[in-house]
Amino acid sequence: MTFPLLHSLTIALGERSYPIQIGSGLLADAASFAGLPKASAALIVSNSTVAPLYAPALQTALQPHYASVHLVVLPDGEAHKDWQTLNLIFDALLQNNCDRKTVLFALGGGVVGDMTGFAAASYMRGVPFVQVPTTLLAQVDSSVGGKTGINHPLGKNMVGAFYQPQRVLCDLDTLKTLPASEVSAGLAEVIKYGPIADTTFLDWIEAHIDALVARDVQALAHAVRRSCEIKAQVVSQDEREGGLRAILNFGHTFGHAIEAGLGYGDWLHGEAVGCGMVMAAHLSQALGLVDAAFVQRLTRLIAAAGLPVRGPMLDASDNAGRYLALMRVDKKAEAGAIRFVLIDGPGRACMRGAEDTLVRAAIDRCCAA
Ligand code: NAD
Ligand code: GLY
Repeated sequence: MTFPLLHSLTIALGERSYPIQIGSGLLADAASFAGLPKASAALIVSNSTVAPLYAPALQTALQPHYASVHLVVLPDGEAHKDWQTLNLIFDALLQNNCDRKTVLFALGGGVVGDMTGFAAASYMRGVPFVQVPTTLLAQVDSSVGGKTGINHPLGKNMVGAFYQPQRVLCDLDTLKTLPASEVSAGLAEVIKYGPIADTTFLDWIEAHIDALVARDVQALAHAVRRSCEIKAQVVSQDEREGGLRAILNFGHTFGHAIEAGLGYGDWLHGEAVGCGMVMAAHLSQALGLVDAAFVQRLTRLIAAAGLPVRGPMLDASDNAGRYLALMRVDKKAEAGAIRFVLIDGPGRACMRGAEDTLVRAAIDRCCAA
C-alpha cells in the first residue's frame, strides 16, 4: 500500500485551531511558513545536535518572512530541560530586542519543543510559536497538543503550561539522521495509539513494524499521519486533560517511574514508555480487562520495535515498592492514589486505580531478577 507524502490535518480548538503538515522537504521550503502571524523577528530554538544539521536550511526558509532571524542553541539532552536552559531562550530574546510579536520556532525533538513552547507561553506573557519536530516521538506526539514545560529535580514535566503552537511542520526527511534508538523510542508512542484507540492501526503497525524500524518513508508517513489524527481527535475533545486526554499517557505512569528511578536520561523516554506499556498491559490482564494473548501480542510488538520489555530493578530490597513510591508523585495521582491508564479491551482505554498487590505483581512479572 502506498500513501501520499503530503498530509495536512487540523487540531480543532476554535480560535486556537492549527494545522499539522506532514511531508518531505517542508523545512527548507519558504512556502511552508506563509500565513503565520506577522512579525519582524523570528527566533529559532534548537540544540547542539540538531542546529548544525537543520538550522541553516530553516534560517534560509524563514528569511523571506522576517527582517531578522535569530538562533539560540541549547545544550542537548533531557538533563537540560530545566530553568537554567530555559533562561537561555529568554536571554536570546532580550539580547536581540525581540518584541511581543516575535515568532519562536522549535527545531528539535520533544525536549526543545516542550521548552520552546513554555518560553513562548511566558515571554512578554505570550508570543506565537511553531513546532518543527525532528524526532519521530516529537512528530507523533510531543509537538501536537500544546503541553509545554520543564522538569523539576523532584518530578518530570512538573512546571509548565498548556500553550498551543500556530502550526506543526513534520518534515519526514529529518528522521533520516536520527539514531536508531531514537526511532525505536518514537515507535513506542506510535504503538500506544493502537491499543488505546484503533485496533486497525494496531494491526497495521504489526504488519509494518520492520518497515518502520527501517525508516521506510511511506510507512513513516502513514504512522505519523494516523498518530497525529488520533491525537488531534483526543486533544480537540479535551485540550486541558480534564479526562479523556489522559489515555494518551498509556504506559507513562510506569514509564515515568523508570525514568525518575534511574535518573533522567539513562533510558530514553520512549524506551521507558515501551516497557511501561508492557507493565500496564499486565495490570490490565490482572484486572480481567484483557486476556494473556493480548498482553503477549503487545509485548512482541514492543520488542520488535527495538524497545525493552523488561523493566530495570530500581531497588534490590523492595523493587515494586520503589516503583509505587515514584508513581505516587505522578501528575495523574490524586491525593497519593495512583490512577492508571489501562486497556479495557483492544482499542479502548480506561482510567482506574488498582490494589497495590496487583500493581506489585505486574511490576514483578516485568522486571529483571
Ligand atoms: P529529545 O528531544 O531529547 O531528542 C532525542 C535526541 O535526538 C536528542 O539527542 C536530539 O538532539 C536528537 N535529535 C533530534 N532530532 C534529530 C535528528 N533529526 N537527527 C539526529 N538527531 C536528532 O527527545 P524526544 O524523544 O524527541 O522527546 C522527549 C521529550 O518529549 C521528553 O522530555 C518528554 O517529556 C517530552 N514529551 C512531551 C510530550 C508533550 O505532549 N509535550 C509528549 C511526549 C513526550
Ligand atoms: N503525550 C500526552 C499528551 O499530550 O497528552
